[in-house]
Amino acid sequence: MNIKSVVFDAYGTLFDVNSAAEKCKEKIGDSWEGFANFWRTTQLEYTWLRSLMKRHRDFWSITEDSLDKSMKVFNVDFAMKNELLNLYKTLSPYPEVKDVLNSLKKKNYKLSILSNGTPVLLNELVKSNDLENIFDDLFSIEEVGVYKPDSRVYDMPIKKYQIKSEEVAFLSANTWDVSGGGNYGYNSIWVNRNKAIFDNLDYKPKNEVINLTQLLDII
Ligand code: LAC
Repeated sequence: MNIKSVVFDAYGTLFDVNSAAEKCKEKIGDSWEGFANFWRTTQLEYTWLRSLMKRHRDFWSITEDSLDKSMKVFNVDFAMKNELLNLYKTLSPYPEVKDVLNSLKKKNYKLSILSNGTPVLLNELVKSNDLENIFDDLFSIEEVGVYKPDSRVYDMPIKKYQIKSEEVAFLSANTWDVSGGGNYGYNSIWVNRNKAIFDNLDYKPKNEVINLTQLLDII
């Protein structure tokens, strides 16, 4: 691989999307994990559906809309809504994230996040987790006004760095995002933390890692 830039998905890849509900698990009760998964799935469905309907709303609005539905489905007390939303702004990173990013930085790769999140959300996530000085860019889909896996999203780092798609190592834990980036031409690497099954969407990743540390052996 001749990699010039390492591009990371944010939600689920660097930052644990279940950590907001997990921090409230006592109050939510035993169904907290099912609730967290339903919230995430609904959130993603809304991104795809809104892109297809050409009715864009930013990721923060979609996060709130999908939370609203999920709270109704799981009978979660609406008094918790603001607490859950605020926790989503400062999601925790996975344990190895900071060390791996620092190692990659020393190797002089262009490092970036490419995410559905708004610029404000991405800045806040990076800041609250003390990762501010690591990334060259935080690419938000708000710049192109359409959600992943539209190819205009994956164009952003290529255009900014003036490199070829195959010079990008793209890391995502979201199988459909790995397929999106891979079909676009990236070296898409699947972060498979939970022994999941890959999709049938015209791209199979050549590389799969169980956490980001393994990336250091690949590129
Ligand atoms: C993102 C979602 C796909 O960060 O996780 O773009």
